[in-house]
Amino acid sequence: MSGPLHLWRDALQDLGLVGLVPPPAPGAPPAAGTSQAAIPPPPEAISRGSRLPLPSPSDPGAFPPPETVAAAATLEDLQNCISGCLACPLGAGRIRFVFGEGSPKATLMFIGEGPGRDEDLQGRPFVGKAGELLDKMIAAIGFQRSEVFIGNVVKCRPPDNRTPTPQESQCCLPYLKRQIELIRPRVIVTLGATPLRELLGVQTGITRIRGQWQRLEMLGGIPVMPTFHPAYVLRQYTQEVRRAVWNDLLAARKWLDESPQAQQTSASE
Ligand code: URA
Repeated sequence: MSGPLHLWRDALQDLGLVGLVPPPAPGAPPAAGTSQAAIPPPPEAISRGSRLPLPSPSDPGAFPPPETVAAAATLEDLQNCISGCLACPLGAGRIRFVFGEGSPKATLMFIGEGPGRDEDLQGRPFVGKAGELLDKMIAAIGFQRSEVFIGNVVKCRPPDNRTPTPQESQCCLPYLKRQIELIRPRVIVTLGATPLRELLGVQTGITRIRGQWQRLEMLGGIPVMPTFHPAYVLRQYTQEVRRAVWNDLLAARKWLDESPQAQQTSASE
């Protein structure tokens, strides 16, 4: 296919109207302007094509009911139950659902805002530039990425990386809360203002509140250390900002090393 016809096909594909134009014959070279995607689209991305019927609220994958979410007994169960979610408008725009990753027994959990472009493409949290910095932050306090758990308030990428709306965040929050219940972290580090506002209801600006312990009223109370989002640190790469984040991370590490539960665990070993 060449000339205006392939432009038409590309435009139709962009609109999700794939399949109206017959695919090229087997063995035919790819049309000019089309790229061979390095990462194959996940199965759920196919459902964005408008030829497929829209899910109904009774579709358990698209709108996982609260009781199913609450009944998920493992992170794997939970992921299976929610990864087809279309309960808010972000679901229809995602390439991949970004569940979060790390140890299911993590003592330390990091919570960011929501996936960006790289995360949407790979289906993993914090894999772009901000993720590289987060990896360094994690290593700086003596952990490997696989030993902590990294999650987000929303699991699907907001368009143009905007802040998720309160409605989108609240729609996704039961998933994050179930993750916390299953992991039972001893400390949570929130990254930026969004997780603090949406999970704890704290409206104070992050510059004022970072470094001050908060408490999440779940599982008898979980200490929460608010710090700057790594993307902010990259934008404001000053000694002051970096030192602030370092102090916040050290406080979290110290709590893990010195809090009563740590002493009890080591005494019983
Ligand atoms: N920013 C976030 O808040 N979360 C990610 O997963 C990536 C970037």
